[in-house]
Amino acid sequence: MDRDIKDQSHLQKDAKSLMCASNLSHSFEYKLFENVDLNIHQRESIAVLGVSGSGKSTLLHILSTLLKPHVGKVIFDKGYIYEQGAKKLLEIRRDDIGIIFQSHYLFKGFTVKENLEISSLISGNKLDLEIVKKLKIEDTLSQNVAELSGGQQQRVSIARVLLKKPKLIFADEPTGNLDMQTANDVMDVLLDYTKQNSAGLFIVTHDEKIAKRCDNSYRLQDKRLYSVSL
Ligand SMILES: Nc1ncnc2c1ncn2[C@@H]1O[C@H](COP(=O)(O)OP(=O)(O)OP(=O)(O)O)[C@@H](O)[C@H]1O
Ligand SMILES: [Mg+2]
Repeated sequence: MDRDIKDQSHLQKDAKSLMCASNLSHSFEYKLFENVDLNIHQRESIAVLGVSGSGKSTLLHILSTLLKPHVGKVIFDKGYIYEQGAKKLLEIRRDDIGIIFQSHYLFKGFTVKENLEISSLISGNKLDLEIVKKLKIEDTLSQNVAELSGGQQQRVSIARVLLKKPKLIFADEPTGNLDMQTANDVMDVLLDYTKQNSAGLFIVTHDEKIAKRCDNSYRLQDKRLYSVSL
């Protein structure tokens, strides 16, 4: 346990934990959830299920540095995420965290290769063609992303995140646009990455079959986050 990070009232960060969320609550027009505690460990994949509107994306945004919770703490590395300055927050988001959004934000008007090279530019890593091949987008590299199908665009956005080599990946419905076979291929890539890089994976999905492939599953229901066995 990190000796300097202690929240006596709630969950604590343990030795293998990459991120620890403690006592999170958040509301918009109504309360979405409260008392959410979660540890994400190295090499651990976590799936969150829940009906539309239950707050899955909101929870993902809170954990991934994008949204300060109304109540609660998120600890990453040795610091409370939302108590650090904007510059540090930007560094964590750039260097350590990869976010695959529910609607992928690719640079339209640019080729697949150009979209991927942005990650290399940010991280200083070379474009890893293994990842590109595993996601079956190697034949699209010279195409403009606007010409690709929704599923292909989704895989480009996943490749772009993985090429950054993040310590933690947050993926909001990463297989939402994909057929079952391609969805499973994408899960293979995400799960392999997590194990091989001692990273953490947090995905939101509607699909129990996809959630079942993760180490641990939770459901957002009745404003709480419950552990579920599938
Ligand atoms: N920035 C915002 N401002 C106001 N309300 C918001 C905001 N973001 C989300 N909400 C509301 O909070 C609720 C939960 O939204 P959220 O996107 O977290 O749900 P979700 O579980 O991811 O749903 P889905 O499965 O449809 O993606 C919704 O009612 C949504 O309209
Ligand atoms: Mg959502």
